[in-house]
Amino acid sequence: MRKPLIAANWKMYKTPKESLAFLSEFLPLVKDHTASEIAIFPTMSSLGYVIEATKGTNVTAGAQTMHWLNEGPYTGQTSPTMLESIDCTRVLLGHSERRIYAHETDDMVNLKLKAALDHELIPVVCVGETLDKRQSGLTEAVLRWQIACALNGIKGASCGSVVIAYEPVWAIGTGSVATPEQANEAHAIIRREVATHLGLPCASGMRILYGGSVKPDNVASLMSQPEIDGALVGGASLQARSFAEIIHNSTAA
Ligand code: PGA
Repeated sequence: MRKPLIAANWKMYKTPKESLAFLSEFLPLVKDHTASEIAIFPTMSSLGYVIEATKGTNVTAGAQTMHWLNEGPYTGQTSPTMLESIDCTRVLLGHSERRIYAHETDDMVNLKLKAALDHELIPVVCVGETLDKRQSGLTEAVLRWQIACALNGIKGASCGSVVIAYEPVWAIGTGSVATPEQANEAHAIIRREVATHLGLPCASGMRILYGGSVKPDNVASLMSQPEIDGALVGGASLQARSFAEIIHNSTAA
């Protein structure tokens, strides 16, 4: 009932030329894949090119962040209307690298989520605990807090498109993937928290992706867990063959 979503977060990698070279190798490798949705989140400078090059394919593209306002004196920002104007359909919100390096707060993630829903952009809201919080036994508290803040003021009726990504900060780019059981447990905590805010039907239909050192050889065991509905892949999504392998292996479980 929850169609898996396998997404590539390209972070600050790939020029437009490199993005298009990736697609010309990648699209043929996944063209017959229907078992999951496929999304790519390139840099802002490549986004328009990737959107154009994936039109009519089974791959969609989105932005790695956005502002919540439509326009204004905010140097360096991109608005929801600007994303709409280039046929962008998805947006990542609250990635831990945005929270750490761009000082995005839970309140900002909430404003952005509301804006995404107003503009019918499909949001992927990222949450996850640091190593310090996990070692202090605070994983559940952190996840519940981040979800509660992100969903503050959002109505169950408008939650249909929302995707959550559980990305433990200690697993991002480190090679230390969460065990399938650790990830499944965190996803269950997130789903229960979503249910308290938006109701059970919304929570049970919501896709929760795992992110953090996903690779071709660990994706199947992660995806075999009942609460894991897809993956948000950083480093291993930068090579067409490796990302295609992740997509194919994700349905092998
Ligand atoms: P990683 O990144 O796969 O390189 O750990 C995941 C992410 O940051 O979304």
